[in-house]
Amino acid sequence: MVDAEASFDVAKLGSKDAYKLLTSALIPRPIAWVSTVSREGIPNLAPYSFFNAVASDPLTVMFSASVKADGSPKDSLKNAQETGEFVINLADEGLAEALNHTSGAWAHGVDEFAQARMTALPSTLIRPPRVEAAPVALECHVSQLTPVIGSDSTMVLGQVVLIHIRRDLLAADGLIDAQRYCPVARLGRDEYSTLGRIFSLARPKV
Ligand SMILES: Cc1cc2nc3c(=O)[nH]c(=O)nc-3n(C[C@H](O)[C@H](O)[C@H](O)COP(=O)(O)O)c2cc1C
Repeated sequence: MVDAEASFDVAKLGSKDAYKLLTSALIPRPIAWVSTVSREGIPNLAPYSFFNAVASDPLTVMFSASVKADGSPKDSLKNAQETGEFVINLADEGLAEALNHTSGAWAHGVDEFAQARMTALPSTLIRPPRVEAAPVALECHVSQLTPVIGSDSTMVLGQVVLIHIRRDLLAADGLIDAQRYCPVARLGRDEYSTLGRIFSLARPKV
């Protein structure tokens, strides 16, 4: 008889396979397309799918950065740490290839906006520019840097201070219309997805 379930002891899997398995299960993940500037003022842009909102008041988001192949900090983390600011750009389907392009291990000091042919738009309250073509962008102040114990990752938490939304995405209730937004999300392997069926459920009144 074939077992209906497979169970994997993470300690025996090896970290790379465990990571691959987990990221094929935790889907779809929103993607933070993080823009920062270096201390020298060079813009940087890279995607992070270990990303989410973590508090509502003050409005706080986080992304988690591991290290480069040589063990040094990724540029987004280094810049956020040094300048205290970052933008979370959110990409729609049409931007998926450009977003993926910016995940290349470009050297510190390479402007990924130029690499991906993305126009950089000045932010309003912070120095890092944002992606002009991004339908949504969150200007953030770094509020906390938290090493993930035992790992090579650091969580960057930031307070959202300004939210930009392309006007045509706003529905009559002032919120974003999901269908028109068409955000791109990360799956496992090299897979991405867009939204599937959308439905509503009222919260239980207890
Ligand atoms: C869709 C996508 C999501 C990614 N998510 C993460 C992540 O959550 N954490 C991470 O450390 N790297 C992640 N990466 C890899 C980084 O984007 C990559 O290492 C990049 O070179 C980092 O750039 P930076 O050094 O300019 O910050 C992701 C790559 C892609 C394509």
